[in-house]
Amino acid sequence: LLAIQPCSFFEDHIALGEVDSTNTVAERELSSGRPTPFFVVADCQTAGRGRRGRNWHSPQHKNLYLSIALRPSLPPSRLQTITLWLGLRLCQLLRDTYSLPVQIKWPNDLLIHGRKIAGMLTEARVDSEFTRDLVFGLGLNVNTSETDFPEELHSIASSLSMNLGQPLNLSRIAHRIVHHLSDAIQDYLNEDYADELAHLWPEFDFLRGQGISTEQAEGTAVGITRNGSLRVEREDGSIAILHSGEVSLRKS
Ligand code: ATP
Ligand code: BTN
Repeated sequence: LLAIQPCSFFEDHIALGEVDSTNTVAERELSSGRPTPFFVVADCQTAGRGRRGRNWHSPQHKNLYLSIALRPSLPPSRLQTITLWLGLRLCQLLRDTYSLPVQIKWPNDLLIHGRKIAGMLTEARVDSEFTRDLVFGLGLNVNTSETDFPEELHSIASSLSMNLGQPLNLSRIAHRIVHHLSDAIQDYLNEDYADELAHLWPEFDFLRGQGISTEQAEGTAVGITRNGSLRVEREDGSIAILHSGEVSLRKS
């Protein structure tokens, strides 16, 4: 099991071997009243998931599968950009620690040289205008090698070790990430970080200047709005705003 030292922000944590999904475990624990904040880590997942039920490849002992559970008691509008904020703070951490050119791809991926090294999945339960439960899930490819990935991920996925040319100590990086995220979460919950997010975004924005084509708009990505939607500039100069299913709301 992954050993992580306690950190004062969290009430406790759960380290497990094989699970279906750490997000699912965290949601179950929230429902049964476990005190927050807490986090869940696992050695591997049999049903790791991405957005819209897509699968997250989660082999044993190689990578980080982490879910952080909170009861923020804030209106959903105050939490709209939490995934982007935590993603940016992870980019900073990985750049500063390993000198890796990590970028964030709106709305929920972290990339190095255009290949995905991490995915984030935030799931929340809203109760009469307030967010009762929130789970932030992070899958970070730490020690997967090219051949560990299934064929269909070969050209699109990567890992920290593939970029650094050597394996990393998984416990150490897990520990760093958990501590860094606890700071980032406290910052975010204590203050309105809209200005800071807008200021930091261009530095790590993978999509900036890239062509975007969706049912709603065709144009060039030109950053995000204050509430975390993607701004796309059409050829005629008008701006389209694309919303994401970034925080999937499960009404209770
Ligand atoms: P979008 O751009 O809409 O987010 P996406 O392809 O990134 O699309 P997500 O739901 O964000 O979709 O992420 C899930 C996808 O990530 C999977 O369909 C697969 O292509 C890819 N994937 C799955 N496991 C891994 C992994 N361990 N590392 C990197 N990529 C993975
Ligand atoms: C995505 O790219 O769509 C998000 C992938 C998120 C994967 C992580 S792994 C830990 C947590 N548990 C899950 O089932 N999903 C997230």
